Amino acid sequence: MTDKNRVYIFDTTMRDGEQSPGASMSLEEKLQIARVFDELGVDIIEAGFPIASPGDFEATTEVSKILKKSIPAGLSRHSKKDIDRCYEALKHSPRFRIHTFISTSPLHMKHKLNMSADQVYESIKEHVTYARNYTDDVEWSCEDGTRTDMDFMCKTVELAIKSGAKTINIPDTVGYTVPSEFTKIIQTLLNKVPNIDKAILSTHCHNDLGLAVANSLAGVQAGARQIECTINGIGERAGNAALEEIVMAIRTRNDLMPYSTGINTKLLSKASKVVSNATGFPVQYNKAIVGKNAFAHEAGIHQDGMLKNRETYEIMTPESVGVKQTSLVMGKHSGRHAFKDKLNSLGYVDVTDDVIQNAFGKFKILADKKKHVYDEDIIALVDDSLIIDNKLNALVLKSLKVFAGTGEPQKAEMTLEIFGEIKNSSETGDGPVDAIFKCIKKLYSHEMHLQLYQVHAVTEGTDAQATVSVRLEENGKTTVGQAADTDTLVASANAYLSALNKMLIKRNKTAPNEEYQNQKMKGI
Ligand code: KIV
Ligand code: ZN
Repeated sequence: MTDKNRVYIFDTTMRDGEQSPGASMSLEEKLQIARVFDELGVDIIEAGFPIASPGDFEATTEVSKILKKSIPAGLSRHSKKDIDRCYEALKHSPRFRIHTFISTSPLHMKHKLNMSADQVYESIKEHVTYARNYTDDVEWSCEDGTRTDMDFMCKTVELAIKSGAKTINIPDTVGYTVPSEFTKIIQTLLNKVPNIDKAILSTHCHNDLGLAVANSLAGVQAGARQIECTINGIGERAGNAALEEIVMAIRTRNDLMPYSTGINTKLLSKASKVVSNATGFPVQYNKAIVGKNAFAHEAGIHQDGMLKNRETYEIMTPESVGVKQTSLVMGKHSGRHAFKDKLNSLGYVDVTDDVIQNAFGKFKILADKKKHVYDEDIIALVDDSLIIDNKLNALVLKSLKVFAGTGEPQKAEMTLEIFGEIKNSSETGDGPVDAIFKCIKKLYSHEMHLQLYQVHAVTEGTDAQATVSVRLEENGKTTVGQAADTDTLVASANAYLSALNKMLIKRNKTAPNEEYQNQKMKGI
């Protein structure tokens, strides 16, 4: 393995990933993600689009302060104000990257930018040079690159490099390309741009046709050495290329793709979980690498083969991505020490004693109620405790009684602690969940809209724990709450309260940036 085969991983979960409708994350959540990514070995972390909102600015600033190894990056359009704002957010880190972009496709230049090709060309010189005054680590992207005229792309890339860009990113913004075409684009740039050896070529593929990972890998095989991607593949519309899939494809098929990354693959499962919790987007069961079923073998023939030799049906081990085989090792007789060990083995290495204590208490209650306690049960419990530890609990559920069934209207009786004060209410509703949510609304009046209510069984059987996700919206801002319990209705109440608590924190933090909104309306 030589250095020329090192592929840099640029993660944009907190920027492009957060552009998924409903995927907004709080500052606390972004910091938690950034710590995990730093440990995971991500080379560059795009922490936000600082001009977009005060919240994005604050998150980029705070992330840039805590990273130990990863390089923080921020996004900016071709606008000096954007670039200044990016610098202001990133300057706390000894090394940082300014990522600036403009569209180069005929469609975008005409309809989105209302600019001629010559104006776009001139703008590159002006803005890359401007960003270069702040740092020698400037990345330039030609948005909608895969629908750009190739001769024009070569000209713009040459100019961006001449103006100081060290990384040239080729976005497949609308997920339109296919591997053979993307290979050609990268090869053409390498063959035709005279100063291309002064920069690293990067891929940024969206997944509209389900080809984002394949296109990214084709780009690397053609000579690109940076891949932009997100954990769990989250992102605009169908998402971005999934980091975990790219890294494991390179590792597993190193015979065909002799490249290396700096990723500690054993932390992939943990990173996936942290992102899923923060966004409230569950990971689909059959998702490659990090899905619940990615290493499950159900068919008898497969199980038989696995028992004889794991390699019969396993191309990579669950351990290599940080997944332990689901087991029944924990029961009601397990002590705190064993519980802590279990958390460590599940990847929870830096949780506080308070979180352990809280999760252990819930584990004991669960173990009394439930015959088998699976790893997934414990994960759900500790995630719940992490949310509480984040001090997002201005409103706390004290007790809940629900009357459901046929005939009578469903009714909920609830006691909440609201900023330290105990309040009770009783409401009927169109179903038990409706009655519960009405109780919360009565006890703490608010105008937030329920955008999503989702229940997932964490493990199998009628005694399985349920994880409930709730998304609330208020004035364009959204928050997601999750909670787990063997009682789906208790989990529903707690998930709603968690989203509500997060919104109370968010209310104070992210007033929309008027200037950005105005510019966005104009399509700049
Ligand atoms: O998809 C895209 O074109 C982008 C750019 C801003 C890099 O996200
Ligand atoms: Zn993108």
